Amino acid sequence: MSNVYTIAVLVGSLRKASINRKVALALAELAPANLRLNIVEIGDLPLYNEDIDVDPPAAYQTFRQQVSGADAVLFVTPEYNRSVPAPLKNAIDVGSRPYGKSAWSGKPGAVISVSPGAVGGFGANHHLRQSLVFLNVPCMQQPEAYLGGAGSAFDEAGKLSESVKPFLQGFINAYAQWVEQHKKL
Ligand SMILES: Cc1cc2nc3c(=O)[nH]c(=O)nc-3n(C[C@H](O)[C@H](O)[C@H](O)COP(=O)(O)O)c2cc1C
Repeated sequence: MSNVYTIAVLVGSLRKASINRKVALALAELAPANLRLNIVEIGDLPLYNEDIDVDPPAAYQTFRQQVSGADAVLFVTPEYNRSVPAPLKNAIDVGSRPYGKSAWSGKPGAVISVSPGAVGGFGANHHLRQSLVFLNVPCMQQPEAYLGGAGSAFDEAGKLSESVKPFLQGFINAYAQWVEQHKKL
């Protein structure tokens, strides 16, 4: 039997009705049997401040443990003003400290950006990748995943559109291989 890998999923939107959250949940359902996707919540993390990190808030500690305890990381994010939404950037910064003890280092990762707009969050996707290079997260390069027109990806009952499903299935299948490949190194 192949190994089972736990995946920390970070959703860049805090909105209850977030399309990105729906995509994250859809990916969890479509994922091959060797991946277990768990959303790690980022909405209650205080804004990163080195002063308070001298005696880290419980929310920082819990978050760092959740990321450290996962085998790999997956980012599902909207684009805010052509970049990474602040809550997600904050979570990345929290996980990166204390210096020398980053929770991210070496975890295979992937990014999917999701937007109702036509460009599919390209700017956020690539700004996020810039941080991941520094954080030593080997980030899946292909397939790139920019889900544009995402306002129609789910119907009113929350069901994933059949036209979007193959795209998400291809992405998560490739990511499963990416994780397997990196965990064997
Ligand atoms: C502050 C803010 C900035 C935004 N900037 C962009 C943007 O640069 N590009 C884009 O495609 N959509 C942008 N949007 C629209 C979001 O893509 C849209 O609200 C999307 O539904 C957010 O994802 P969610 O449904 O997961 O919350 C922005 C939305 C907000 C609130």
